[in-house]
Amino acid sequence: MAFPKGFLWGGASAANQYEGGWDEGGRGPCIFDAITAGSATQKREFHSEIKEGVYYPNHTATDFYHHYKEDIALMGEMGFKTFRMSIGWSRIFPRGDEETPNEEGLKFYEDVFKELKKYDIEPLVTILHYETPLYLANEYNGWYSRKLVDFYYHYVETIFERYKDYVKYWLTFNEINCIAIGDPYMAGACKKVDGVSLDQVTYQAAHHQFLASAKTVKLAHEKYPQFKVGMMLGGLFFYPNTCHPLDMLEFQKMNYQQFYFCDLQCRGYYNNHAKALLKSKGVVIQMEDGDEELLRQGTVDFISFSYYMTINASVSANPELALAGSGIASPRNPYLTATDWGMEINPEGMRYFLNELYDRYQLPLFVVENGLGAVDELTEDGKVHDPYRIDYLREHIKVMDKAISEDGIDLMGYTSWGCIDCISAGTGEMKKRYGYVYVDRDDLGNGSLKRYKKDSFDWYKKVIASNGEDLD
Ligand code: BG6
Repeated sequence: MAFPKGFLWGGASAANQYEGGWDEGGRGPCIFDAITAGSATQKREFHSEIKEGVYYPNHTATDFYHHYKEDIALMGEMGFKTFRMSIGWSRIFPRGDEETPNEEGLKFYEDVFKELKKYDIEPLVTILHYETPLYLANEYNGWYSRKLVDFYYHYVETIFERYKDYVKYWLTFNEINCIAIGDPYMAGACKKVDGVSLDQVTYQAAHHQFLASAKTVKLAHEKYPQFKVGMMLGGLFFYPNTCHPLDMLEFQKMNYQQFYFCDLQCRGYYNNHAKALLKSKGVVIQMEDGDEELLRQGTVDFISFSYYMTINASVSANPELALAGSGIASPRNPYLTATDWGMEINPEGMRYFLNELYDRYQLPLFVVENGLGAVDELTEDGKVHDPYRIDYLREHIKVMDKAISEDGIDLMGYTSWGCIDCISAGTGEMKKRYGYVYVDRDDLGNGSLKRYKKDSFDWYKKVIASNGEDLD
């Protein structure tokens, strides 16, 4: 059997896309409470305040806040070994910079962890999944301000101490590399500053996130040796569009831009590639005494990543060929099919990148997001037949099997994305569904929020029960 005993099968979510209860229990708003709904063709818009009369889909999301017992029971029924979730920072510190935490918020997650324990489900907690408190974005320009390192650290100290008996696996930042894709607001809660280039803002904000992550890892190693703290890389993985020498260089450059983040979090220093990248962008990182030492001391225990697709790198990329799915202008790969949202489906690509990451860092890997966003139809008798999702997942699980058994990769687990339907991060739609459980909610916010098991629910249950052997 390829999958080791104790392999962490499960599903993944994020507070902002799943939890709802945005203004309950003393919670403050985060930047995702002020993002509009969008669609495959219409970009979502971040506002700096919550406006009357605007529909913000993440406010209710799919309401884990009021359904957590029912949802965790469903996860338990599927046999989940782990559940990836994030803690909403603004539920613990409503503004983000307070001294004293919000007890009601702390209690909510404690109740969730207790519920998970009943089913022997190990939480895998993302400390920040794009959910910077809105106040910190407005008052400090988010992660561009070094002050956020301390605010985040205080938040981390608080949750580490409170949840030390419930949580062992932590991820410091979701898809940390996404800060450098286009606009840094989603991942960095920061905007362009007059007289400073957007690249300077982006990479300085990323530096602050590296420091915050390193401090977190250091704290865990010193005070909570039972913890394992990982980094989380957004799966923006590139293929060369052709074997043209310039496409090869472009492919290497595009992948280095992602590995930049792994290098900093796994090796703990700005290496030659990092320095070259910063130089090419005219960025000078403002460092303080002790930063370099801290980065070296706070390297992560494992690497987790999301994997949905690959993207073709080409020197002559034609923006008209842009993939809706990646948001990056790139030509289509003629050997692959794509989802309805333009994400090119490439299971073998996952094997390539598992090997690439393992070869580079020799750290345990964890696939913490993967899945098919698709339109599902709820039948009159309350069923959802989703063979397309089963096919997608099966092919990726087969590849993980080979990566373990044939390539010798140390893979800790697999949590497919949006295990219970939630709001799409990219488009804000409800109809782009990933889950094993259908939630009755539409793009306009209508629906009972009632849960229905899809066909993939029973399939995944079998997969987990057989530890990845039975994929039929
Ligand atoms: C990842 C994010 O980029 O992809 C998730 O970490 C997100 O938050 C997931 O939901 C799928 O993307 P989308 O846009 O289909 O929700």
